[in-house]
Amino acid sequence: MSKLNWVMGVVLSLGFSVGHIPAVQAQKELNLYSARHYQTDEALYSDFTKKTGIKINRIEADDNGIIERLKSEGDKSPADVILLVDASRLWRAQMQNYFAPIQSPYLEDRIPTNLKAAKEARGVAWYGFSTRARVIVYNKANVKPNEVDTYEKLADPSNAGKVCTRSGAHPYMLSLVGSLIERNGMVATQAWAKGMVANMARNPRGGDTDQIKAVASGECGVALTNSYYYARMLLSTKPEDVSAISKIGFIWPNQNAGGVHINISGGGVARNAPHPKEAQEFLEYLATDSAQAYLANGNNEWPAVTTIKVDNVALKNMGSFQVEKVSVADMGKNQIAAQKLLDQVGYK
Ligand SMILES: [Fe+2]
Repeated sequence: MSKLNWVMGVVLSLGFSVGHIPAVQAQKELNLYSARHYQTDEALYSDFTKKTGIKINRIEADDNGIIERLKSEGDKSPADVILLVDASRLWRAQMQNYFAPIQSPYLEDRIPTNLKAAKEARGVAWYGFSTRARVIVYNKANVKPNEVDTYEKLADPSNAGKVCTRSGAHPYMLSLVGSLIERNGMVATQAWAKGMVANMARNPRGGDTDQIKAVASGECGVALTNSYYYARMLLSTKPEDVSAISKIGFIWPNQNAGGVHINISGGGVARNAPHPKEAQEFLEYLATDSAQAYLANGNNEWPAVTTIKVDNVALKNMGSFQVEKVSVADMGKNQIAAQKLLDQVGYK
């Protein structure tokens, strides 16, 4: 018996006629490659599915894992949407041709010009959906706030032996340096990097939370961190975090000197997206009022859509601040120059 005849036989013996088998409706879906791995994002995805009927298949990895996967899958990649963290990574993914630029009047209207890729004839490669700031924390017993209230002051000889940062090769540092190149020029930024290396309390190592803890312990006098790590610690009720926070001062850098450095988490449609329509629908959903508030709040970030207010105790306690005018697209493109400059001064 052929396979088809066998199936027909089973169908008929069950009492159905072939003509009455209901057509299975193809479920709309999209494949999301996300470097965001915050538990609170779950609710965001299920809300999208509820609103649109589009199922989300998620691949989660860190940024390098996502990029490696896209590289090995090549043109056959099933990715529809790519979400990455930090402008330098988004820019690199754009240069490696992982995005299909999109034309979306809605996203164009919602996301400010300084928080997205440059507009090309084919559209925009990626959009920022949440923002974070690179801030300064200091040990209250050893350092006075006016000694460390700008990025530039951290490289001043008066702060010798006090400064800690994560590796200069990390995208968070490359983007900051990329921004300083826009603000102060190459020569001044190289001198700054040299001053930073001279002022290190220890060789760069660890993540941003490690810098905060080392400031609390007194190993470092002053350090750089992304704002959400500090906010997370502010909200923590763990005794060791409460104790650490009590020893630390917090600064919005450069308030009268160009503003605090801002970065994004963001994303775009993948170049060979099998479901480009659904992918764009998802990105547009991320820019809606409710998704924006939720997305930002979940990781103690700010919405990219600036009219939306977030009800977050930690961010409220950190107060208001002036942000830089440099666009994330410009700091992204400066990262190669930034890396070169850091290598030249031995910034590990
Ligand atoms: Fe981070």
